[in-house]
Amino acid sequence: GDLVSVSRAGVPGFGRIRRIALGDFATMARAARAARAPFAVQSAYRGYTTQISTFWRWVSVMGYRRALLASARPGHSEHQLGTAVDLRTPGGAAPWAYADWGRTKAGAWLARNSWRYGWILSYPRSGSPGRSCYKYEPWHFRYVGRWLAAQIHASGLTPREWLWRSGAAGTWTEGGPVPTPNPTQSPTSTA
Ligand code: DAL
Ligand code: ZN
Repeated sequence: GDLVSVSRAGVPGFGRIRRIALGDFATMARAARAARAPFAVQSAYRGYTTQISTFWRWVSVMGYRRALLASARPGHSEHQLGTAVDLRTPGGAAPWAYADWGRTKAGAWLARNSWRYGWILSYPRSGSPGRSCYKYEPWHFRYVGRWLAAQIHASGLTPREWLWRSGAAGTWTEGGPVPTPNPTQSPTSTA
C-alpha cells in the first residue's frame, strides 16, 4: 500500500519501492551522481504473480537447476518485500549482460558505499552462492536501514547469514536454517 515510484527519488528507470526506503534511495543516488557513478533501476518491487513469470522465464533460459541459483522462486524473492532493487548503468545493457557489473563505475561505487545509505548487497561476490543461496549479483540491493546495514557490513557476513545468526529469519535457536529439502517446481504461496 505504500509503494512509490523510483522516479520520486530522481532515479531513472521504472518500478516502485516502499516509501520507507525512498529517502535513503534518493540520497544514495545523489551521492552516486556526485561521484560520477550514476545508476538507474532495472527492476524494483515485484508481486507474487510477477515473480512467477520472472522465475519461469529464467527457467526457460537456463533450466530449473541453474535458475534456482539466479532467481528466487515465487514467495521467496526480496523483490516481493518492496525494499529490493536491481540497479543498472543508465543507458547500458541489463547488468547481468556484463561480465561483472560490479566492476563498472556504478557497480563498484555501490559495492563500496551502498551500506552507508542503508542498502546492502544481498549476494556479494565473496560468499555467493555458498553463503547467500544465490549466485553473485552485483546489481541487487536490499534496504534494511542505515543502522542494520552498518552492522551487517561490519560483520563480514552475507546479509542472510547475519539474519540467520540474529534469529531474524526464523524461529530456530542454534545452527543454520533448515533448507527446504526438495524445492517443488510448482510453488505455492505458503512459506
Ligand atoms: N535474483 C534474486 C535472487 C531474486 O529473484 O530475488
Ligand atoms: Zn534482484
